[in-house]
Order: sequence, then structure tokens, then C-alpha cells
Amino acid sequence: MMNSIITGVGHYVPERVVTNFDLAELMDTNDEWIQERTGIVERRHIETGSKITSTDLGVIAAKNALNDAGLTAQDIDFILFATLSPDYYFPGNGVLVQRELGCKNIGAMDIRNQCSGFVYALSTADKFIKSGAYKNILVIGAEVHSFGLDMSDEGRNVSVIFGDGAGAVIVSATEENRGILATNLHSEGEYAEELAVLFPGTKHGWSDEVLKDEHSITKNEIYPFMNGNHVFKHAVTRFPESIKEALNDAGKTVEDLDLFIPHQANLRISQFVQRQLNLPDEKVFNNIQKYGNTTAASIPIALSEAKAAGKIKQGDLVMMTAFGAGFTWGSVLINW
Ligand code: ACO
Repeated sequence: MMNSIITGVGHYVPERVVTNFDLAELMDTNDEWIQERTGIVERRHIETGSKITSTDLGVIAAKNALNDAGLTAQDIDFILFATLSPDYYFPGNGVLVQRELGCKNIGAMDIRNQCSGFVYALSTADKFIKSGAYKNILVIGAEVHSFGLDMSDEGRNVSVIFGDGAGAVIVSATEENRGILATNLHSEGEYAEELAVLFPGTKHGWSDEVLKDEHSITKNEIYPFMNGNHVFKHAVTRFPESIKEALNDAGKTVEDLDLFIPHQANLRISQFVQRQLNLPDEKVFNNIQKYGNTTAASIPIALSEAKAAGKIKQGDLVMMTAFGAGFTWGSVLINW
């Protein structure tokens, strides 16, 4: 049976830096509150009015990943695109990437699992590779959050957290005795509305009445809603559960880990999990301070930066774990 390895990684973030001080000019917030609660110092946003999309960011990240792998778009035989901020309600971003990169008429699929979208996509790629169906799969996580955040005081608990960006990896088949060792994916739909954007969706119907009736859609439905304390409590439970499950499945222990790359939800969540697992600082990679929470893009951006910084070498045991809306969560454990 084939193993699946990551042969290329790349990322791209917009150039526009938005600091906590910039946000304090738009809403009633301050640098101290944001840093203390989330660890975030700044994030990237696309230029206002630029209409840059998550596909645009994803395509640049994908080109960087292809370059890193020494492959071309013609070598890719499947595309997986994880995002909660697609260009259109439909079709998905996967086909737009197929068009933009000029890939063959390969399959392209979108993954709608928000913060754990990249882990879901990577796990899916792993299964496709191991089934023998494909040799090189392009996996992208990309978000443009800034277009859809409530920048008034009302939305401050959510808007200060999120940033724009994209990351991508190439997952390839190999006969070498290394690669993805274990994955797990979970969900708990009971809490679907605790972290959500409710509109657009068929629950509200699509008739002209929705557009006409000013009372049918509220601000809370258009902008993200987050029950922050609830998310925090569940995240710090599910992260360690999922990590231990992946380690057990691979016959490894926490001590065997060389690097843990958590979804960059909130630095306090990552630190909480790090303490629970008793991991030293050098074995945990965080970059939320610079980019905020970029949802499906956060792990591949962090992976790309960690690799560029020389923190990952062949043979290292690398754990990637995410928790997010749904609730959904999961891990991918790799013998790099
Ligand atoms: N600036 C200043 N004050 C704020 C802001 C802000 N941006 N946002 C909220 N406040 C105020 C609140 O209005 C409240 O004021 P009050 O006491 O006068 O009512 C006060 O700060 C405390 O609000 P809480 O919501 O209780 O703040 P908390 O300490 O719980 O921190 C936070 C909020 C950071 C969201 C926290 O709940 C948390 O870390 N949750 C985890 C969720 C998370 O990080 N999600 C990331 C995205 S989801 C994901 O990726 C999994």
C-alpha cells in the first residue's frame, strides 16, 4: 500500500497589516484586551474594496506549494479546497482553482468544515492516496474574512480575532516508510449554532420576501456569531482528546512528538492545550500573533512558516489538530 507524504507547502497572506490599534479606531476595543484574551497583535486584511477572494489567495499559496514540491499544475490529479468564505454560494472554490491553475479536468471538491477544514481535507487526501486513486493532491485552506466582519462595537468580540490568508500543501503517494500515520475526524452538531453564520441559507428561504422584509434577517444572522466561552471550554477538551487518539492509533506518545501545530484559534487555547500535554515551547508552533485566526488557512500557513524556519525535518513526528464551528475537530499525525 502507498503512503501519503507532504511534498510541498506554501502560503500567502495579503500585504495589508491591520494592528489592534487600527481596530481600536473602528470599534470600542484596545490592544491590551485583544492581546490578553487572544494573543493577537496584528492580522492581515485584503485592501478594502479590492474584491480579492479566497480563491485568489489560495491560488498563490498553491503555486508556492507546487514550486516547493517541484511539480506543475499538470501533475495534480485532485483538488481539495477548505474554506468558509468561498467566492460564490456555488460553485465551490475547487473548480475555480482548477481553472486558474490550468489543471487537467481533474476532480475538485470543497470542504466546509471551518476551522477544522484543513484537517478534514488533509485526512481526505490521505485516504484517496492510500486507496490508490490519486498520486498528487492539492489541498488548500484559504479565507477572506475581512469582507464579512461586523466592525462596529457590537461585533468586536468576533471581529478582532479573524484575519485573511491562505496555505496549501501537495499530498503525494510514496512507497517510502513514512508519511501520514493517523487521522481522526469528529463532530458534535448539538452546538452548530454556537459558532455560525446563519445567512445565506435555505432555512430563511430565498424568495424576494427575504430581501424586502427588513425584519426577516438580523445583523446576527449575516455576521458570525460566537459563544466565546462555550467554544473555549469545548476546544480545550477536544484538542487533547483528538491528539491522544491519533498518538494511540499510531502507537506513539506525547513525548515522541517533535512539533505540534495547533489550529490558530486563540493563543490562550493553544497555551492551555500545551500545558495539559506538558509540551515545551520549542515543540509548539504558533503564529496567531501575526495573522489572527485564519480558520481553514491557519494550519497550512503555520506549517509553511515552521518548515521555512527549519523547524521540521524528515523523520520528525508532527501533529496538526483543529477545533471549530460545527463543532468539528480532528488531528493528522505525520512522520515527516
Ligand atoms: N474589546 C474590548 N472589550 C471586549 C471585546 C473587544 N474586542 N470583546 C468583548 N469585550 C468585552 C465584553 O463586552 C465584556 O464586557 P462586559 O464585561 O462589560 O460585559 C468583556 O469584554 C468580557 O467579555 P467575554 O466575552 O466574557 O470575554 P472573554 O474573557 O470570554 O473573552 C474570548 C472572549 C476571547 C472570545 C474568549 O471567550 C475566548 O477566547 N473564546 C474562545 C473562542 C475563540 O477564540 N474562538 C476563535 C474562533 S473559533 C475557532 O477557531 C475555534
